Amino acid sequence: MKTFYITTAIDYVNGSPHLGHAYEKVLTDVIARFRRMMGDEVYFLTGTDEHGQKIQQSARARGVEPQAFVDQIAPEFQQLCARLGISNDDFIRTTEPRHQRVVSQLLQQLFDKGEIYRAEYQGYYSTRQEQFLQEKDRNEDGTWPEIFGEVTQITESNYFFKLGAYQQWLIDHIKSHPDFIFPRYRAKQVLEFLSEPLNDLCISRPKDRLAWGIPLPFDPDFVTYVWFDALTNYYSAVADKPGLWPASFHVIGKDILVPPHAVYWPIMLQACGLAAPQSILAHGWWSINGAKMSKSTGNFVDPIEFVDQFGVDALRYFLIREMSVGQDSDFSMEQFLVRYNSELANNLGNLVNRTLNMTNRFADASIPSPGELGEAEKSLQQAWSQTREEVLPLFEKFQFNMGLEKALQFVTATNAYIEQRAPWKLGKSEAPADQALLRTSLATMAEALRLGATLLQAVTPGSVDKIRGVLGYTATADWPSELNWDYRLSGNPVAKECILFPRPEKKP
Ligand code: ME8
Ligand code: MG
Repeated sequence: MKTFYITTAIDYVNGSPHLGHAYEKVLTDVIARFRRMMGDEVYFLTGTDEHGQKIQQSARARGVEPQAFVDQIAPEFQQLCARLGISNDDFIRTTEPRHQRVVSQLLQQLFDKGEIYRAEYQGYYSTRQEQFLQEKDRNEDGTWPEIFGEVTQITESNYFFKLGAYQQWLIDHIKSHPDFIFPRYRAKQVLEFLSEPLNDLCISRPKDRLAWGIPLPFDPDFVTYVWFDALTNYYSAVADKPGLWPASFHVIGKDILVPPHAVYWPIMLQACGLAAPQSILAHGWWSINGAKMSKSTGNFVDPIEFVDQFGVDALRYFLIREMSVGQDSDFSMEQFLVRYNSELANNLGNLVNRTLNMTNRFADASIPSPGELGEAEKSLQQAWSQTREEVLPLFEKFQFNMGLEKALQFVTATNAYIEQRAPWKLGKSEAPADQALLRTSLATMAEALRLGATLLQAVTPGSVDKIRGVLGYTATADWPSELNWDYRLSGNPVAKECILFPRPEKKP
């Protein structure tokens, strides 16, 4: 069985991490955890993209060297992963020697094969922004926007990679690999892009214009530019680890699917004699209160502050529950609090509280063995079989939002079961039949809680561990068998109480 090798995009370190970065890491982590739970061997890579113009400019604006600048920001992204409970096996920084070495090797290999050539490039250039401009950058009246300052036509020599030569190969590859791009409708967008002739890709910048990059091994007056450097991280991180390439799964945002990941990357690999990744998943974008996320306007959510305030699982749950993978979504505090209160605190949290509370009150804090099952138990058990049957295929297809909805519906059904059995009434009766039913109902609510929580494990792993802990239970390594309804908790001691999702404190 091939290792399931999964990656996120690597984030630009020209600013602190934001909600979009957090979402991508959580989504990838949920997929990685789910695959592990299903028995796959998983290798999970994330990291930071540390070269290029924007970073050189941000460093200069703060009056520090680029290396010092990235050394200051990259740890923020590493801390974000730790705070979000991300189960990555490795974290690559593109300024590391292990990465630079592989980029140089691939460039030299392509240059030696004649896949890279030098050519003159002519265009409009903004000295203030240090960038070539395109016709679409002009104002409607044909002038250049203020921000570009003086715009002149210049000619520059650069290196180009022969993308065009692989256009037909890529079209055929996409058509013959229906799982290459997810969601599938995005493959259409790629094929549309490929219906126009593909220009060769400029992969360099003269060093005197951009110093902060990996030097071209065959011409030290130039550095590699952006995508050749960044995309290679997926391979450089595992180049010396046998059996990992090709990647099984690249998780990225929709903005970098076409052309970088769906066009440049498979062609670069093909030209190097390496296999294309098996699948690319392009997720949608978060807006905040209906508007584009932007630091400059303050429309911004700091994921670390958010975790400090509400806990990591509340954020993980919301991100995965709210967004349908592939589509865009909006983040608002109102919507977050609705889900936090109605789904986590008042539904799941409530079931935990009731189970502990009643087991303490009526069974001496030890989960009883069930007696004969009645209609209510059988019907809850039936609801469980159906939930389990429906949720797994949804998770397999990355429809985590729908899977979570169904898992929480089962929690709702369990709370309704408790209302129906009303153990607090049974507890007042001395009749043997009532006492037996009381024991059965306590055993059933604990079992249903254990099972419902098991379905949440990839999304809210910390809370699921806590729930198991307060039920005196340690899970086996065989996750699918954890989904069997078998009253395995009988005799376990339960904790006094457990506040999983406390009432949010008001911001100071
Ligand atoms: O693009 N909602 O880095 P990046 C959801 N370094 N996802 C978002 C988002 C939002 N509002 N904003 C950004 C880069 N993202 C390159 C990638 S990969 C070889 C190089 C996602 O920091 C975005 O779509 O701009 C991308 O997948 C990731 O965050 C990093 O974005
Ligand atoms: Mg971006």
